[in-house]
Amino acid sequence: MIMPFVEWMIFLCLILILVNAGKGHECTTIIKNMEYSCSGRNLTHIPSSLPFTVTSLDFSFNFLISLHKCVFPVLLNLEVLDLTRCHIKHIENDTFYNVKNLATLILTGNPITYFGPGGLNSLHNLQRLVLVDTGLSSLQLQMNNLTKLQELRVGTNNVQSMSLPSFMSNFKDFSLLDLHANNISIIKTDHTAVLREIGRNMTLILSMNPLLHIEPGAFKGIYLKEFHIQSAFVSLDAQKECLEALAGLSVDKLFIGSYRMQWKVKVSDASYLDGLCSVNFNEIYFVLKEWSDSEMHLFRCMINATKITVKRGYFKSMEYIPFHRLKELYLGPTLLSVVPLISHIPSLEKLVVKNNMPMTFNGITDLPLLQFVDLSGNFLIMKDCCSQFFQRTPNIRYMNFSRNSEIGMTDKPFSGLDLLEVLDLHRTKLVLVFYFGFLHGLKNLKYLDISYTSITFTRQMFFQNLNNLTVLKIAGNSFHGDALTYLLQNLTGLEVLDISHCGIEKISRRTFIGTQKIRHLCLSRNKLMILDFLAQPELNPLISLYVDKNSITSIPLQVLQNLPTNLSDFDLSSNPIDCSCSQTDFISWIIQNQNILKQPENIFCKTISLSSDFRATDFDTDSCVHKKRLTMVLSICFVTIVVLLSLLVYRFQFYLQYCCILLRGYRSPGQQECSYDAFVIFSSYDEVWVMNELMENLENGVPPIQLCLHMRDFQAGKSIASNIIDEGIMGSRKIIVVVSQHFIDSAWCRFEFELAQSRFMMERNANIIIIILEDVEERKSKKVFGLHKHLKKNTYLKWSRDPLSNMRFWIRLRKAILDH
Ligand SMILES: *[C@@H]1O[C@H](CO)[C@@H](O)[C@H](O)[C@H]1NC(C)=O
Ligand SMILES: *[C@@H]1O[C@H](CO)[C@@H](O)[C@H](O)[C@H]1NC(C)=O
Ligand SMILES: *[C@@H]1O[C@H](CO)[C@@H](O)[C@H](O)[C@H]1NC(C)=O
Ligand SMILES: *[C@@H]1O[C@H](CO)[C@@H](O)[C@H](O)[C@H]1NC(C)=O
Ligand SMILES: *[C@@H]1O[C@H](CO)[C@@H](O)[C@H](O)[C@H]1NC(C)=O
Ligand SMILES: *[C@@H]1O[C@H](CO)[C@@H](O)[C@H](O)[C@H]1NC(C)=O
Ligand SMILES: *[C@@H]1O[C@H](CO)[C@@H](O)[C@H](O)[C@H]1NC(C)=O
Ligand SMILES: *[C@@H]1O[C@H](CO)[C@@H](O)[C@H](O)[C@H]1NC(C)=O
Ligand SMILES: *[C@@H]1O[C@H](CO)[C@@H](O)[C@H](O)[C@H]1NC(C)=O
Ligand SMILES: *[C@@H]1O[C@H](CO)[C@@H](O)[C@H](O)[C@H]1NC(C)=O
Repeated sequence: MIMPFVEWMIFLCLILILVNAGKGHECTTIIKNMEYSCSGRNLTHIPSSLPFTVTSLDFSFNFLISLHKCVFPVLLNLEVLDLTRCHIKHIENDTFYNVKNLATLILTGNPITYFGPGGLNSLHNLQRLVLVDTGLSSLQLQMNNLTKLQELRVGTNNVQSMSLPSFMSNFKDFSLLDLHANNISIIKTDHTAVLREIGRNMTLILSMNPLLHIEPGAFKGIYLKEFHIQSAFVSLDAQKECLEALAGLSVDKLFIGSYRMQWKVKVSDASYLDGLCSVNFNEIYFVLKEWSDSEMHLFRCMINATKITVKRGYFKSMEYIPFHRLKELYLGPTLLSVVPLISHIPSLEKLVVKNNMPMTFNGITDLPLLQFVDLSGNFLIMKDCCSQFFQRTPNIRYMNFSRNSEIGMTDKPFSGLDLLEVLDLHRTKLVLVFYFGFLHGLKNLKYLDISYTSITFTRQMFFQNLNNLTVLKIAGNSFHGDALTYLLQNLTGLEVLDISHCGIEKISRRTFIGTQKIRHLCLSRNKLMILDFLAQPELNPLISLYVDKNSITSIPLQVLQNLPTNLSDFDLSSNPIDCSCSQTDFISWIIQNQNILKQPENIFCKTISLSSDFRATDFDTDSCVHKKRLTMVLSICFVTIVVLLSLLVYRFQFYLQYCCILLRGYRSPGQQECSYDAFVIFSSYDEVWVMNELMENLENGVPPIQLCLHMRDFQAGKSIASNIIDEGIMGSRKIIVVVSQHFIDSAWCRFEFELAQSRFMMERNANIIIIILEDVEERKSKKVFGLHKHLKKNTYLKWSRDPLSNMRFWIRLRKAILDH
């Protein structure tokens, strides 16, 4: 009968394995070949594609109704298996045979109704077993073979007795039993027998059980590392009785009271915690929801404690207890209005009071070992701080007064506190009477935070004799004038400096002259525009630099090339970066150095044409190269045109001048007055003929004709060109051109003729009279612009020595001149 069953099982396994083969990839690889997560994928089987080397598998939130030997493939390296909320109901005998090297098994949230007797026993190496919320009703589990078990977490079940199976006394490493939120109401002496045998170093969690009764002596002689009994009693009376019944228990850390602050509970019996006096404990942590009109004796039984932590409480006062072993006292939010007058505790090393409610502080005294004082966040107002508040406390090294209301300091406020290494006063208004010496004598100070303390640093104020100071935070204050330049000069050991949010507009190169070790510099939220101080050799050790939220538009290439060599954390974000083509070097630098830039995606361009959320890293520097080329081509063209134009203007300056005059005259032709009848254009070689013949005949004839002759009529002191134009061409009605060989050779004559032509061309009046004094070759006449054409088109006069034709010549000329 047995054989067929075994065969049938093997057959079933094969079928299952075959069905599941080929599937896979349902899981996420967290570490290749080691860690996989198949959480929440509605799987009904373990994927066979998992490598056999897997060490950790998260299979939570899937569907595995029943666990048996074939569910798991052979995974001998598997150490962590999480089967949280997989709807598991049955766990068969040999379920974990294929994964027998598990160290951690989590079965949280499965409604397990059947546990095969050998179900867990193949897990010889199991160290953590988590059976939270599995419907468990007893700790009598079949797990004899789990000799390496260290943790058993069975919270949120229906366990009614904390008695462990007797074989567990052999579990040498067993150290944690978590029974929170079960249904344990009674603990008897025999329930703790195994605990007692296991001996020392156990953590026992019984919080949130309805404890009603503990048999006195049940915990006698038991030593626990941690004992959690928060919200573990059905009533205050039960608590009082049960605490008393704990007599003889030794605990290192005791957790009592409520889990969190709940509604207040009034107690009539002020000594309701007196049961603690019969428990030996070192450290105690509590949240107390109880309150009373009268004095509550909360601390009476804590006289031997080394550490007291009040997470929260409703007590209004703290009685004086001569603690003699107390090393640390932590007072969280309570109804205390005054910091307790803690004094004469020879062992106290650390004091923390954080009330979040206004308190007053009258000082603490005679605490020779006190090193650490944190009174932050208590709305304290202290006048004439600090020495007088700390009498005979010579060992204080850490003092935290941050987030208080106001602290006033006068001369030498820290005398007698020479060993101070950390001083934190941030976000507390400081009223300093003697500025200079306010840190006088703190030669051991390493850390100073006076951010947001409403200080205005002046030029007379600087830090001196603080050779050990490595961290300085002065953010959120202000500087008068150039006070920053001198402030840091003697802080030779400074490594971390925060001067953000101080309204700094400029940092002088001299600021960092004395500080050659700064590694972290924060200048965020100032008004800096220029970062040229960065290229200084004094700042070479910089690793991180924050200049976000300033007014930086660009950083010159020369500064970028000389940035500190090890700078690996550079925050430039939220600055109005200028993304114009003149800044391509800077933008390219940003694009190439995104690895050292913090939040490169928040470096935006602030250019009018681009939208406000344009990222500098998206800027296309190539487009600038094209623009640059285009600009270059255009400017070359422009320069060429300008040069050409000026050459032309120079070459044709007379014409231009003439054109101007013409245009002027053209505009008002009526007002044009001609003072001469004719202007004579001639070569000076022909002067004799002009004077003797032309002038003689025309000016002395009847009617006399007024000629304009350059050597006689041109105004002295005026330029020749102006004279030609004003007097000659414009001032005469007609132009007489005396053409000869010399005329053609003379540049001036040609120019005058050209001007004359242009005048009459515009006035459309053929008023140029040409006299051919001597024959000129056609080839030569073409040299003078328009002459050849003019001769062809118009009648001209020809001079001859023959008296008869001579006579005709003068008559015709006179007619031509007088003709209108
Ligand atoms: C799992 O099944 C539930 C319903 O049965 C469905 O709502 C959910 O989306 C499924 N999840 C996945 C990852 O398929
Ligand atoms: C499980 O194993 C126990 C012995 O360890 C045996 O008595 C029991 O019959 C087994 N149950 C099944 C279903 O095989
Ligand atoms: C438990 O351990 C014993 C002895 O080492 C061994 O014989 C037995 O098979 C183990 N039980 C299981 C279910 O592996
Ligand atoms: C807790 O145990 C008591 C008996 O001690 C029982 O009456 C009660 O029903 C249990 N509560 C739960 C929630 O199981
Ligand atoms: C208690 O446990 C800690 C580790 O949790 C270990 O270092 C220490 O040696 C143990 N002490 C005793 C007495 O077992
Ligand atoms: C404190 O310890 C001393 C022994 O050192 C002991 O006599 C005394 O009872 C203890 N007090 C409390 C409240 O635990
Ligand atoms: C001082 O206390 C404040 C508030 O509790 C805290 O944020 C700060 O880190 C403390 N300062 C130091 C130097 O530990
Ligand atoms: C402070 O600096 C001095 C040297 O300037 C050194 O001798 C001393 O040890 C330092 N103190 C501390 C606490 O580092
Ligand atoms: C600062 O240091 C310089 C050089 O070490 C020294 O001459 C000067 O007196 C110091 N200034 C102060 C105020 O300590
Ligand atoms: C930069 O870092 C290297 C290696 O960490 C170190 O050797 C070197 O001194 C550092 N340079 C500066 C200027 O701090």
